[in-house]
Amino acid sequence: MREFKEELKERIQEVEETIYGYLPEEEGYQKTVLEAMNYSMKAGGKRLRPLLMQEVCRLFGGSMEEIAPFMAAIEMIHTSSLVHDDLPCMDNDEFRRGKKSTWAAFGEDMGVLAGDGLIVYAFETACRAFQISSHPERIGEALRILANKTGIWGMIGGQTVDVELTNQAIPREKLDFIYRLKTGALLEASMVIGAVIAGADEASCRLVERAASKIGLAFQIQDDILDVTSSQEVLGKPVLSDEKNCKTTYVTLEGLEKAREDVARISEGAIQDIRALPGENIFLEKLAAMLVTREK
Ligand code: IPE
Ligand code: IPE
Ligand code: MG
Ligand code: MG
Ligand code: MG
Repeated sequence: MREFKEELKERIQEVEETIYGYLPEEEGYQKTVLEAMNYSMKAGGKRLRPLLMQEVCRLFGGSMEEIAPFMAAIEMIHTSSLVHDDLPCMDNDEFRRGKKSTWAAFGEDMGVLAGDGLIVYAFETACRAFQISSHPERIGEALRILANKTGIWGMIGGQTVDVELTNQAIPREKLDFIYRLKTGALLEASMVIGAVIAGADEASCRLVERAASKIGLAFQIQDDILDVTSSQEVLGKPVLSDEKNCKTTYVTLEGLEKAREDVARISEGAIQDIRALPGENIFLEKLAAMLVTREK
């Protein structure tokens, strides 16, 4: 386990180097928004989505060069979702990734614009894959998936239902819908794009999507657990945010014990799916297993 943690640290560092290479220069009259974008991107974070994307691409023998712009793009989109999620009109949280939230550091106006800027620049960045790929149809399909899982059918759709249902009880069915979209969709995009860029067949892509969907659900339940059991020092973001916003979460609905059991069970299902894929990737399996034990 310790060995894996060391390996993970190194891999995250490599992923960050890749991503940082795609960030915009902070210059011109619009400098402030560029600074706010880069501030949020460089604040830290687990970089789980680009890492999963790269590992799935590797599993199917894909090119590390072609996947790189998409790794940067998915982290930009994820970060934009956090920048907006923290806004006073959303979860109203002042800390993120161990630093002041983007809006708290740059003002609410720049918080909105930096989130918008990142989400659009992500697509501009992903398009750079066309310049290095000899498979434009794969890039096109990956862009379609990225848009689909980011927008109204994915993360933005999920966040919509999430904020609308603040302050009221939610049936389990609706909570599952929210988690599948607000969190699951970007994890699905991460892993499926890795497979698509590598040229994996349709059946394999569906299996990857199924595994990613389970990872997404387990990941959000664990996020809910940590919101009530962890500390701001460890998480780098405020705890008890859900209670503050009167949210129904997996924990309020099912209780802490069942939530923990379900994270373990759902993650195990994801690992089984990963094992059923062609090839072998122990690192990917360990990464999925880490979701159960993660403390931040
Ligand atoms: C937080 O995501 C938001 C959720 C979808 C639960 P992460 O826990 O991956 O946040 P970072 O990227 O590590 O900061
Ligand atoms: C947000 O869920 C998921 C996103 C799409 C950003 P949360 O509101 O629980 O995420 P945290 O706890 O603030 O990271
Ligand atoms: Mg939220
Ligand atoms: Mg939040
Ligand atoms: Mg949360």
